[in-house]
Amino acid sequence: TGAFTYDPGFTSTASCESKITYIDGDEGVLLHRGYPIEQLAENGDFLEACYLLLYGELPTKAQKADFDERVTRHTMVHEQMVWLYRGFRRDAHPMAVMCGVVGAMSAFYHDSTDISDPQQRMIASIRLIAKMPTIAAMAYKYHVGQPFVYPKNNLSYAENFLHMCFAVPCEEYKVSPVLARAMERIFILHADHEQNASTSTVRLAGSSGANPFACIAAGIACLWGPAHGGANEAALNMLAEIGSVDRIPEYIAKAKDKNDPFRLMGFGHRVYKNYDPRAKIMQKTTHEVLKELGIKDDPLLDVAMELEKIALTDEYFIEKKLYPNIDFYSGITLKALGFPTTMFTVLFALARTVGWIAQWKEMIEDPSQKIGRPRQLYTGEPTRDYVSIDKR
Ligand code: CMC
Repeated sequence: TGAFTYDPGFTSTASCESKITYIDGDEGVLLHRGYPIEQLAENGDFLEACYLLLYGELPTKAQKADFDERVTRHTMVHEQMVWLYRGFRRDAHPMAVMCGVVGAMSAFYHDSTDISDPQQRMIASIRLIAKMPTIAAMAYKYHVGQPFVYPKNNLSYAENFLHMCFAVPCEEYKVSPVLARAMERIFILHADHEQNASTSTVRLAGSSGANPFACIAAGIACLWGPAHGGANEAALNMLAEIGSVDRIPEYIAKAKDKNDPFRLMGFGHRVYKNYDPRAKIMQKTTHEVLKELGIKDDPLLDVAMELEKIALTDEYFIEKKLYPNIDFYSGITLKALGFPTTMFTVLFALARTVGWIAQWKEMIEDPSQKIGRPRQLYTGEPTRDYVSIDKR
């Protein structure tokens, strides 16, 4: 026991002060540094959002050009890192590879592990933003057994990522502007989301003074879970399992059954008790991608749209304020873009890296910062005497 407040899942405890992201869950509002996510996703690119999250303001033209240049200069990874991948089994989940490779960055970029130097903190941030697409694309290429593709620095952030994933040495590869724009938007939508589980993990790891690469690896590990970033993979698998519109009622009934652990993946959110604003933009992006690719009838999209319609009018979902979240539509889009389900959470990690690192930086630069050290309510045995093994 003790004089501590018990708040399982931190439903009512603020762990920090932050100026980065604001969410009004009841109204379905998401702002980064005060700017609505809808406006950022519609008008800007991902690196502009990165600049905003890191520096607090939208960049001027000159600042943006300089930032793009700095990020682009760091897109290559140390050639020795190639050997790290070869140590993994081919059938390893790419998220397992990401946890390992990103953690190993601290063994390659020693200089930017000095967190007391603001310049090194910024270099670490730039390195992470620049190298995540390369690391993620290499995880994909290793997974599918194709040769690694080096970054092409004359391409935009999203174009370069698609190029590194889908170009093969024996063929020409041209990135479609519509698909690159969709990828860019997916990255913007995932860039930050205040103190979610993985961001809190990064902050907690960073509060001990751990280096930024190790902290981001901790965030990746947390993101992997199906209740968090892993939901995009789980949502698509669920849609595939449902398979056809006529089976939806069966799954709705399962989701409502208290004795069945099944949940509708891509539904519900700890903070949003209204439609997730990112899900709305994602739904529009899904339609744009399918149109661009000439996919008229995607059975998974049919199931998703009907499932959404039924759930939104069902008493259980209305009463519990369960709305589609970003992961509900992102899987269909990523599948259409050509990614296997195992890569979905990797893409989330790639995009969320900027949020994690901006939050980490904010914490390190906060003079009131202390090591995170939650207390507990002890519910175990009271003091008792040791009993020798032959008497137990
Ligand atoms: N399907 C069916 N029932 C649900 C669902 C769902 N998807 N989500 C919540 N509920 C029910 C839950 O059973 C509980 O019912 P009761 O009050 O009768 O016990 C009630 O709604 C509240 O749920 P909770 O688990 O206490 O809420 P939480 O805030 O702890 O969990 C959540 C939020 C996102 C983990 C949860 O809604 C969930 O598991 N959703 C499915 C997974 C998912 O889509 N995750 C992605 C979240 S968005 C992206 C991200 O953060 O990475």
